[in-house]
Amino acid sequence: MNIKLTNNKLNKIDADITIEFLTQEELDAHQNTHMLKKTGFTAEQDSTLFLHESSLLVCGVEKHNNDFLRSASASAIKALRASNYAAAKLELKTTKTIKGFVEGFVLGGYEYNEYKSEVKERSFTDISFSYIGEDLQKAKDTLTNTLIVANATCFTRDIVNTAPQELNPPSFAKLAEKLADENSLGCDILGEDRLRDEKMGAMLAVGRASIHDSKLIHLSYKPANPKKIISLVGKGLTYDSGGLSLKPATSMVTMKMDKAGGCAVLGVMKAISELKLDIEVHAFVGAVENMIGGNAYKPDDVLVSRSKKTIEVRNTDAEGRLVLADVLTYAQESVQADYIFDFATLTGACMVALGQYTTGLMGFSTKLKHDFMMKAANDSGELIGHLPFNRHLKKLLKSEIADISNTASKPYGGAITAGMFLDNFIKDENKDKWLHFDIAGSAYTETPWDCNVYGGTGAGVRFMSSFLQNIK
Ligand code: BES
Ligand code: ZN
Ligand code: ZN
Repeated sequence: MNIKLTNNKLNKIDADITIEFLTQEELDAHQNTHMLKKTGFTAEQDSTLFLHESSLLVCGVEKHNNDFLRSASASAIKALRASNYAAAKLELKTTKTIKGFVEGFVLGGYEYNEYKSEVKERSFTDISFSYIGEDLQKAKDTLTNTLIVANATCFTRDIVNTAPQELNPPSFAKLAEKLADENSLGCDILGEDRLRDEKMGAMLAVGRASIHDSKLIHLSYKPANPKKIISLVGKGLTYDSGGLSLKPATSMVTMKMDKAGGCAVLGVMKAISELKLDIEVHAFVGAVENMIGGNAYKPDDVLVSRSKKTIEVRNTDAEGRLVLADVLTYAQESVQADYIFDFATLTGACMVALGQYTTGLMGFSTKLKHDFMMKAANDSGELIGHLPFNRHLKKLLKSEIADISNTASKPYGGAITAGMFLDNFIKDENKDKWLHFDIAGSAYTETPWDCNVYGGTGAGVRFMSSFLQNIK
């Protein structure tokens, strides 16, 4: 789909349909009120109606802000793609809402058709904005930057949606190498021999029963005089069967998405390198497959992590934290970063706590959490909720036999105890630099919501890109 922006008046733009977004008040004042109301159109949020005789698509919105426009634009693009129209135009009154429109059109219009034998031909190809305001350059720059982040989000969705027989740790690493080539990033892939040399005993145990070698992917973006250095760490479980603590059949379905943290981190690397931000960013992805077999790691095993801390395995399905323990340690030893952010589909408990749509945010620095919450999450349109650590929950991770257990002794607060497990692998000097994002609920959906369609959502890419774009 092509999205263009010009300072031509709307009636000077060649297109076969005009899109209008209307609130209820605007509907009442509309020149076609009578006809619109006759059809039953009430301008309800996300509703759409074609007036073919007038070459008009009207879309209901509660308010003209990015949050409402994003989901209304997602509805609009779905209607247009189902139609025989080829090109649409709309008037843009302010640069402030470009983001909402473009995210709605690109992300709401996303489809993943790799495995369909027959893909429906779509005639719809073009959207043109008419912008008569004063700041044409700003409008064009906003469009370009929004498109970069939205396309990076689609890139992340594509990887998440790829079937697990195709996307395994080695092919994940190949894909990262390709991204590095295309976007001039540094790339270092550690295979199992190097992981053994680096004493990554926790990560290696998780991948042991897989027919695929585990890989640690390290990508780097290094501009000349970076303002800050950031490390991004991603859980990249290309499949999570649960291991010997096998998941029930219905819970296993969708577990190809357990790599979504790693996919988000790659999406952010794509976005920031295309935005040419002047910050240095490193991505570390632990790409592993959690399977069963005679050589599988098991409940009762005691693993020696890279940090030398020993971990009692009580449940092989709490594997993400084991992989992250070693990858976080490796990341902290490889790069002295100003911030360390990890992204992981870590716990079902996060969904219980916050619902399916909201990413769980954990960490120690109130400033970082607060600034982060207020600015990046809000203006990105992603939902983030804070889950507070406390010393009482931390005690539940105590092991009688090793330094720590990989599961808590009580199930309540499972997202927080998982976050506090990771804290054991954060060095003292980095406590205030680290945040953990649990994207278990937000990374994948089986029913459309907002600008998300079936499958991977690309959670993390928009809010992290927004945070990084605003770094001073
Ligand atoms: N990958 C899962 C978490 C998950 C569940 C993500 C559902 C997305 C949707 C993770 O590895 C896991 O299985 N966690 C366990 C932890 C438990 C054994 C302590 C869980 O959440 O049940
Ligand atoms: Zn698991
Ligand atoms: Zn998992």
